[in-house]
Amino acid sequence: MELKTAFNPQQFLDEYWQKKPVLIRGFIADFEDPVSAEELAGLACEAELESRLICNPGENRYTLEHGPLAETRFDELGDADWTLLVQAVDQWVAEVAALRRRFDFLPNWRIEDVMVSFAAPGGSVGPHFDQYDVFLLQGSGSRHWQVGPRCDASSPSRNVNGLSLLEQFQSQYSARLEPGDVLYLPPGFSHWGVGVEPGLCFSIGFRAPSMAEMLEGFSNNLIDQADPAQRYTDPRAVVPASAVEAARIDPENLQDAFNKLLQVLDNKTEFDRYFGMQVSQPRYPEQILPPTEPLQPETLADSLQQCSALLRHPASRFAWMREEKGDGLLCFVDGEAFSLPASEAQLVNTLCDLSFENLRKITQCCASQDGLDLVLKLINSGSLVLE
Ligand code: SIN
Ligand code: CO
Repeated sequence: MELKTAFNPQQFLDEYWQKKPVLIRGFIADFEDPVSAEELAGLACEAELESRLICNPGENRYTLEHGPLAETRFDELGDADWTLLVQAVDQWVAEVAALRRRFDFLPNWRIEDVMVSFAAPGGSVGPHFDQYDVFLLQGSGSRHWQVGPRCDASSPSRNVNGLSLLEQFQSQYSARLEPGDVLYLPPGFSHWGVGVEPGLCFSIGFRAPSMAEMLEGFSNNLIDQADPAQRYTDPRAVVPASAVEAARIDPENLQDAFNKLLQVLDNKTEFDRYFGMQVSQPRYPEQILPPTEPLQPETLADSLQQCSALLRHPASRFAWMREEKGDGLLCFVDGEAFSLPASEAQLVNTLCDLSFENLRKITQCCASQDGLDLVLKLINSGSLVLE
C-alpha cells in the first residue's frame, strides 16, 4: 500500500483516487505545522468552531464531548489517551487553508474542509469508516494507522457515547506516519489511528453529494419551476367493466405519467445549474453575513479604491462551469448561480482561484456591467469582504 515511487498526480488519479488506500511518504518535505497544538486548543474553546474531544481511557472505552471546551478542561486531561478534533480550521488559519493548494490535482470545489486533530499518546477516535475521501497528513509527532476492508451501512457497528465504531476491525495494513506523510483513504475504508508521539494530523476531507441529496436538491429546483397546470392525465379513458376494474390503476396511463415525469427530470441544463449550486453550498452559511450598509453601484469604484483589501470570505465557496449550450459561463458562489458572458472568464478565474491575494483591483478583471454587478452582489451578500 505504500507508494514506492515519487508522488505523481496522474498516476495517483489513475491507480488510487476513489479506488484504494495508499500511503505517500514525504508528500510534503520538511513539513512544519501551520498551526500549533496550543492554537488548536484555543480554537476548540471558540463557539464558532465545531470541535470534539474524545477520551479513550482503556480498552473499548470512549467518551465524546462537543466544544466549545472550557480552557480548564485541558488541565484535567493528562498526557495520554485523548484526541482533540477541530473542523474547518482552514477557515480560521490562512496557513492551514494554504494546505488545500497541495491538492490542486483535484477539483478544489471537492474539498470540504481541513480538520485538524491533536492526539496524545494512545489517543484514538476508534475503528470506523467515513463516507468521504480523505487525505490524512501527519504533522508533528507520529500516529500509528491501521487500515482494513471497505465497509458500508451493513457493516456491524455500535454507538459508543455518540461515536459510530465498527464491531469488528480487521487490520490489513498498518504504518506509523511521520511528519509530511499522507495516508489517502477512499470512502468507506475502515481505519484506526492511535497517537504514538503527541502531535497533529491534518485531514483534508472531500465532499460528494449523496444520491439522496441530489434527488432532493435537483427535484426541489424542478418543483420551483413546475407548472401547476401540468398534471396527471388519463389519455386512455375506458369505461370500467366492473367495480373491481374501476379501482384499478390503468397500466398504460401509469406508464404515460411515468414517462412525463422522466421528461421533466431529463433536464441536463437545470441539473448542471443545480449541481453547481449544491457543491458551492457553504458548510457554515451563518458565518457569511452581509455588510451593515449595503454598497451602492455608484460607490463601488470609490470603496475599492479606499479599502485596504477585498478578500473572499473564508467560509465562502466558489466554482464555475461553461454552459452546456451557448458559450456563457456559470459562476457559483455560496449556493447561488450567476450567468455571465464568456467575456467574463478572467473575473470568474480570479474569483474561483484558491489563493489569498487581495482582490481590490477586481474591477479591472470585469469586461462588462454583468461582471461589475456580480462583484457588487458578492460584496453585499458577504461572500467578498471589504477591509
Ligand atoms: C483523527 O484525526 O485522529 C481521526 C481522523 C479520522 O480517522 O478520520
Ligand atoms: Co476517519
